[in-house]
Amino acid sequence: MNPLHVADYAAAAKATLAGDVLGYLDGGSGAEWTLRENTAAYQRIRLRPRVLVDVEAVDTAVDLLGSSLTAPLGVAPMAYHRLVHPDGELATVAAAGAAGALFVASMFASTDLVRMADAATGPLWMQLYWLRDRGALLDLVGRAERAGYRALVLTVDAPKVARRLRDLRSGFTLPAHVSAVNLTSELMAPSHVAQAGVSAIERHSRERFDPTITWADLAWLRERTRLPLVLKGILTSADAWLAVEHGVDAVVVSNHGGRQLDGVPATVDVLAEVVDAVAGALPVLVDGGVRRGTDVLKALALGAATVLVGRPVLWGLAHSGAAGAEHVLTLLREELEEAMALCGRPTTADVDRSVLG
Ligand SMILES: Cc1cc2nc3c(=O)[nH]c(=O)nc-3n(C[C@H](O)[C@H](O)[C@H](O)COP(=O)(O)O)c2cc1C
Repeated sequence: MNPLHVADYAAAAKATLAGDVLGYLDGGSGAEWTLRENTAAYQRIRLRPRVLVDVEAVDTAVDLLGSSLTAPLGVAPMAYHRLVHPDGELATVAAAGAAGALFVASMFASTDLVRMADAATGPLWMQLYWLRDRGALLDLVGRAERAGYRALVLTVDAPKVARRLRDLRSGFTLPAHVSAVNLTSELMAPSHVAQAGVSAIERHSRERFDPTITWADLAWLRERTRLPLVLKGILTSADAWLAVEHGVDAVVVSNHGGRQLDGVPATVDVLAEVVDAVAGALPVLVDGGVRRGTDVLKALALGAATVLVGRPVLWGLAHSGAAGAEHVLTLLREELEEAMALCGRPTTADVDRSVLG
């Protein structure tokens, strides 16, 4: 089958990946209500086109924190790309570069961060969880800075990893050949220990993540890096205001792809609230449930500066390595281009809330 849209890649991944890996990739937390809601909410939003606009040339380009992107697309930080394909992050980084998209590397990438930087041809950001071991955290930040990463993305919705039933049922454990190579094996040891009825990933986070950090701790990190700081996992205007007050450089409206607190709204349903709260003080990105170019258009219309895409990139990677991951991003860009043309909005600057209705 020749994949024609993201759903074709999802189906291929479902048919080919091992059950425990598929469960880790596709699953969410709790009853997976938020997971389903992320995609369902996009489908509830309608578009209203303007006609008789010259749309021969459509330009999807945007600028984001000093980098230009061919389209407002990025790869969301996801752990362990080598779980689904031996080329892992080297393939997805190359794919993002070829598609003119941002790449956000996970703290738990299964590829050396310098090798990822060498394979990158576009902007590269590094995601962090706040570890109890601040020395290890800073060491990673320093290496990312030296390797040319352009921003740090601190994930703030995971003081601990939520219960994900699919992983608990499968007793999900990392295979020996896949590990978070940018952290020491001592730090990562719990994520490799199999135990019935326990997700190794969840147990690892409980032991290693620092659940005590608060807004006041951000200054500690800011004083130790010159990189812009992005907070990922903002869902309320109250936290968006605090992000502005604390000098954060950008926020990502995210519910971790429905993998953390189940029961929170779809990200696209709270995007406008966050955009309005920050009132242009900083760029607002969004992720979760983006599966079509029209979803990207809807997010842009609500004020998103860029959209991050998670699972679809790994479905593409699983299907055919770098080519599949790149095709997923290209499909989304081409679908966005088509949607912009059909809505009578030839540039991203023309896309505002009047597209919705
Ligand atoms: C397999 C997988 C691993 C993930 N790992 C991380 C991670 O290491 N750090 C992080 O901040 N978010 C992680 N996420 C969440 C994504 O960054 C993103 O928020 C989410 O996948 C977006 O939703 P989508 O998959 O519906 O596009 C992960 C998501 C998946 C599916």
